[in-house]
Amino acid sequence: MPGILNMSRDGIGYIVVMAVGVCLVCSVFVSGAAVYLKPLQNVNKAADRQSNILEVAGLMEPGIDVRQRFDERIDTKIVEIETGEYVESIDPEDFEQQEAARDPEMSVKVPREEDIAGIKQRSRYAEVYLVKGNGDEIESIILPVHGYGLWSTMYGFIALEPDANTVQGLKFYQQGETPGLGAEVENPKWRDLWPGKLVYGPEGEPQIRVIKGSVSEGTPNSEYKVDGLSGATITSRGVSNMLEYWMGERGFQPFLKRIRQGSLTAAK
Ligand SMILES: Cc1cc2nc3c(=O)[nH]c(=O)nc-3n(C[C@H](O)[C@H](O)[C@H](O)COP(=O)(O)O)c2cc1C
Repeated sequence: MPGILNMSRDGIGYIVVMAVGVCLVCSVFVSGAAVYLKPLQNVNKAADRQSNILEVAGLMEPGIDVRQRFDERIDTKIVEIETGEYVESIDPEDFEQQEAARDPEMSVKVPREEDIAGIKQRSRYAEVYLVKGNGDEIESIILPVHGYGLWSTMYGFIALEPDANTVQGLKFYQQGETPGLGAEVENPKWRDLWPGKLVYGPEGEPQIRVIKGSVSEGTPNSEYKVDGLSGATITSRGVSNMLEYWMGERGFQPFLKRIRQGSLTAAK
């Protein structure tokens, strides 16, 4: 320290030492704040996730205690995507699908020819949410979906009725599309077009998609179709592609088949 006191304040050495000192002090503050606030950020992230899930299931009301409603009504399960079976060895509290997709041991590469959703790599496991009815009955099934739009990977949830086919809702909670164009995927008016649509055609293949233009009474197979977002055909196609992937054989179809056969209930 005496060294620095003896330095001339106009000298280059003094300026460099002071600049480095200020940077060090600031970086300690910033990293300290990041570490200190991490648990709070995680709590907020979990609360946000829970409110999105309640919303897509139609269980969100103003003023409710989100956590309490979530705990009362929703059963969280980890599913192995390939087999569609529940995995008891992973605690949902410790699981984060976006992180798992980056972990080589927890993820698989999506072959290019199958990668219609543009995700490249996906977690082998997914967190699914079952809205509990009376006893073992499931009132709705909520599945995470994601896929590339025009600028960004869009993350959302689709809620299905217990028939594992009829849509209850679709909600995106993270996307970077253009406000007023692709970002209209979050517009409640567009979201209102989804409930009642069917995912699977008569042969059991995913049929649901966003079309270019509007669905009218005369539109053939309108039960599988949703209006496109005007001026945002690429984002709209991204939504169709992600649903085709996630509702298909490589996505949640094995899990949904088990639900339909009644071999998986909320309790199992
Ligand atoms: C600045 C800018 C931002 C755009 N953002 C989006 C977007 O978020 N999603 C999208 O699908 N198209 C976006 N587009 C338009 C696409 O480039 C493309 O023209 C459009 O998807 C075609 O849709 P349309 O056939 O309905 O016009 C954007 C265009 C510009 C110039």
